[in-house]
Amino acid sequence: MITLAIETSCDETSAAILEDDKVLSNIISTQLFHSQYGGVVPEVASREHLKKIINVCETALAKGRKKLDDANLVCATTEPGLIGALLVGSNFAKGLSVALQIPFISVNHIQAHLYSPFIGSPKIRFPFIGLIVSGGHTLLILAEDLFKHKIIGRTIDDAAGEAFDKVAKLLGYGYPGGKHIDDSAKHGDPSFHKFPRSNIKDSEFDFSFSGIKTSVLYFLRKNYDGINLNKQTLNDICASFQDAVIGMLFDKTKKAAEKYGVKTIAISGGVSANSELKQRFNSLKQKGYDIYFPSNEFTTDNAAMIGLAGYLKFNSTDTYRVIGEDQLRIHAKPRLDYEAF
Ligand code: KG4
Ligand code: ZN
Repeated sequence: MITLAIETSCDETSAAILEDDKVLSNIISTQLFHSQYGGVVPEVASREHLKKIINVCETALAKGRKKLDDANLVCATTEPGLIGALLVGSNFAKGLSVALQIPFISVNHIQAHLYSPFIGSPKIRFPFIGLIVSGGHTLLILAEDLFKHKIIGRTIDDAAGEAFDKVAKLLGYGYPGGKHIDDSAKHGDPSFHKFPRSNIKDSEFDFSFSGIKTSVLYFLRKNYDGINLNKQTLNDICASFQDAVIGMLFDKTKKAAEKYGVKTIAISGGVSANSELKQRFNSLKQKGYDIYFPSNEFTTDNAAMIGLAGYLKFNSTDTYRVIGEDQLRIHAKPRLDYEAF
């Protein structure tokens, strides 16, 4: 089966070609100009998706050595995300579905992140604990079976990536800031300052990251107001902040794995590219855990993960095999657990 997958939920215009669950191509065009505004401007993002979508799809087809007529399935992200941006990709995909008379599958972006660490793996190892850490989401999930997920923890305020981006901004880095902090932290001392780890009463697996962002702000005001930070101090603050955030993510995920007796952990989303996060989770392999990370090209938003989730969804039900105008009305069979997100 040849799948054409499209992702336009935020500021990446992406298209991928898959043969069954194997990724043949994955083209990502990132709208870098948003960095001048310090965040994504939704209306501008939608217009840019419109300009790029045809070219990105054509490039994905060429790189995957397929023609449009070869596609048997088309899928696109339909939720969650910026509404105008989502509409560009999903309507483009639905148009292709009608024109080519092939089924269309709507894909939940978070579900796609959840399965992204298994791209290229022979199979998905259920049950597993999924930690999804991106610029917009921080979720801890117990994945019992295909599309059978339970959210066991989530952020009650900022997402982990958002905390990285906000602190990066305080420190004078551009947007998105996670990678800058990660790079700086490699040369810093994590014990330079102990930023507080938040503990949420009565919800052992929920996260909170807005407090740490504020404490970095107060720490800077108190100690470095009007003073230019030298490189080493900057590195040390980055390392201390990163240690606190990654520590919270790691400790709760490990605790969840222990509580539910699960030995497989899959980490996904933009923040899963973080080197400290990788190092901490990978150290669990010595204790008998199976740890899955997406390869770097599948950490940030990409259409390959949308293709995999769409392909899995298509194969998990007969409903989608209908071709014709009905296909646009058919969404999910009850067993697909949308409640989970
Ligand atoms: O998954 P993603 O592309 O977008 C959303 O769906 O939100 O994630 C983007 C986020 C940004 O907040 C970015 O700062 C963060 O991932 N990020 C990182 C690293 N690389 C990207 N955070 C920490 N360390 C990194 N190496
Ligand atoms: Zn994402």
